[in-house]
Amino acid sequence: MANKIIVNTKNKKNPLGDFYGIFFEDLNHAADGGLYAEMVRNRSFEFSPVDNGSYRSMTSWEKVGNASVMISDKEPHSAKNPHYAVVQNPDNSEGGLLNLGYNSGFNFVKGEEYIFTCTAKSNEGTTVYVSLKSIEGTVYAEKEFTINSGTWQSYKLLLSPTDTDHCGRLTVTMRSAGKICLDNISLFPKNTYKNRENGLRRDIALLLEDLKPKFMRFPGGCLIHDGSLNSDDRDSMYRWKNTIGPLCDRPARRSNWAYNQSLGLGYYEYFLFCEDIGAKPLPVLPAAYNPHSGQGAPFDELGEWIDDTLDLIEFARGGEDTKWGAVRASLGHKEPFGLEYIAIGNEEVGDGFFERYPYFHKAIKEKYPDIKIINSAGPFAAGGEYDKGWKSAADNGSDIIDEHYYMSPEWFLANVDRYNGFGKRNTKVFLGEYATWGNTYYNALSEAAYMTALENNSDGVALVCYAPLLCNVDYVNWKPDMIWFNNHTSYGSANYYVQKMFMTNLGTHLLDFTTEGLGKTQVLGSESLGGKISLTAERCTADFYDITITDTHTGKTASCDNIIGAQANKQLEIGSINSDTYEISFKAKRHSGTQGFKLTFGETDKDNSHSWVLGGWANADNALYSLIDGRSSCLIQNIFSVVTGLEYSFKLVINGRRLTGYINGEKTIEITDNNAVVRELYTTASIDEETGEIIVKAVNVMNSECVCDIVLDGINAFYGKAFQLAGYEKDDENTFDEPQKVFPVEIPVSSDSNTLSCILPPMSVTVYRVKEK
Ligand code: AHR
Repeated sequence: MANKIIVNTKNKKNPLGDFYGIFFEDLNHAADGGLYAEMVRNRSFEFSPVDNGSYRSMTSWEKVGNASVMISDKEPHSAKNPHYAVVQNPDNSEGGLLNLGYNSGFNFVKGEEYIFTCTAKSNEGTTVYVSLKSIEGTVYAEKEFTINSGTWQSYKLLLSPTDTDHCGRLTVTMRSAGKICLDNISLFPKNTYKNRENGLRRDIALLLEDLKPKFMRFPGGCLIHDGSLNSDDRDSMYRWKNTIGPLCDRPARRSNWAYNQSLGLGYYEYFLFCEDIGAKPLPVLPAAYNPHSGQGAPFDELGEWIDDTLDLIEFARGGEDTKWGAVRASLGHKEPFGLEYIAIGNEEVGDGFFERYPYFHKAIKEKYPDIKIINSAGPFAAGGEYDKGWKSAADNGSDIIDEHYYMSPEWFLANVDRYNGFGKRNTKVFLGEYATWGNTYYNALSEAAYMTALENNSDGVALVCYAPLLCNVDYVNWKPDMIWFNNHTSYGSANYYVQKMFMTNLGTHLLDFTTEGLGKTQVLGSESLGGKISLTAERCTADFYDITITDTHTGKTASCDNIIGAQANKQLEIGSINSDTYEISFKAKRHSGTQGFKLTFGETDKDNSHSWVLGGWANADNALYSLIDGRSSCLIQNIFSVVTGLEYSFKLVINGRRLTGYINGEKTIEITDNNAVVRELYTTASIDEETGEIIVKAVNVMNSECVCDIVLDGINAFYGKAFQLAGYEKDDENTFDEPQKVFPVEIPVSSDSNTLSCILPPMSVTVYRVKEK
């Protein structure tokens, strides 16, 4: 039978709404040293070892000449950011401060203008020279100002370099003996995105704008809930009220990604950016509970946190006559920003969150019944905590629930049908963080296949965004990432171009379609999970004993040597088996340490295995993982902690791809890790009601081309474009040297009937966007 995709162009299904968006979190220096265009690193001398053990007040600053520099907090410019530099120059030679900037230094572009600002005081009427220089000291631009007040004053200069240099330096110096106090030393390119003051880096902002996101989730991620409960603490959770108003009064904060947040890119700027790129804001607020530490605010103190949430809604939606609407207006935005969605919690595990969530939910719905509230399904694709999230969503009537997972491409291909039938649920899914592990073309391709299924299940899946979004190549906390940058350039990964093709080609409504033919399949991986078996004491020391491996086909049991005094993190082989049904039993006792045990099985090489982790992460997980070509997937997680000195007895039953784990005789975990059965083609179709355009997406993951007719039922003839990624090797990646190695081509298409005959190349992603002739 000939292959066909038959789209019923007259049968509109559910609206696609705000389906695709972006998720911005300040990790990988996505804000400071990234999208936020400030070029001075540690502009207010607030870096501290609380942020990162290596940080000091003078981090990223150097002394120039014979000057001495002291950091003081006496009579500061702002009590919220108390530290400043006291610079004393002993003679008439040049002396002062030099900032190293981010990455290789400052990015100066010949002819561009840069805005220097600082606050300063001096009792001596001192002249200060501000210079943009090379590492060797070549001056590209220089201006001066005179400090003539013993109280803090602001100064501003415009500088334009005579040359381009990506390794520039900023110096602020004196050329005579004198003593000055300096704070808030800032340099911004004038040419920011939309030319805003305190604005955003243009190249990065444009890459985001080009995605045409319907919403933006911000400001995190773990960033929002990993911190202390007191908003005045240096390492507090992300509290939005700390992030608005004059820059000098926004208190510097530790980010859980082990660096400093100036909060210069704060809630007001996030809302503005959303408005600028046409994305609906989707803020994520902490629920007074930190799943990383297990600490939560007492229930009788939740009021402050709930008020923060309600006040934020008022800040976004309220008129000027409301308290927080007036604050917004005072910052420069009289009109409300609008707010339709709010997320309570990031990826939550533990009862501490689920006990607090209902208070937030009730208070929000009472005051703002139309706001869509997003609950959390935690960081796992399945298991006890995931189920707890869904139960909480059902019990509370959450509009949406946020799911997160980072998996192998094979997991995504094996789970394309994950959301089939979710349309019947009252709570809709927000896939708020997902990615395959990697930025290769194969990663992007498998994500594209998965995204067709997300669109097809958009009656149950309301919102989707890839994560993480941004990464400064010199400050990597997490990879893969959608967009990579250094101090002067940025590029989209292969994954970015898939996202862009899907995000910018989304109809207003899903269309009904059927397929004919297209029956070819290819199974990835092996049916059997036989292979090497080993035990590891993870971040602990332990004994493993009474170890047996039983082949349940033959009934043959092998007893393995006891391992007494296993050292931390050493993988110790206990045997190997060539069978698809077997059991592994062992006893274990931890002597010291913070985590528990790992049983690795079905290991065929170091990059391919399965594992059962007991007492993983914060000694909280009982989880099953697969590792395929070095890419890990947490298949299922339940809660379990190891207690030092207690004896545990473990048994894992492997029956084909069905895995069942028992602890002390009790079944505690079970999942089938299905192989990916790759389909001949992954497709979806939608219509843009406003333009009448029909959009058909076709993803061919196989190594062979797919000949297929696209039949647009209800249309006589059509024309338009196809956007296509094809012809790449699996491992191809975009890089700074080849930023558009993987880049979609545009092909005109036309048909004088309702049918377009297509040859979809091997490993290709094609998006057709056509209109009736
Ligand atoms: O996206 C990176 C991190 O992944 C987020 O902070 C967190 O929510 C998840 O663990």
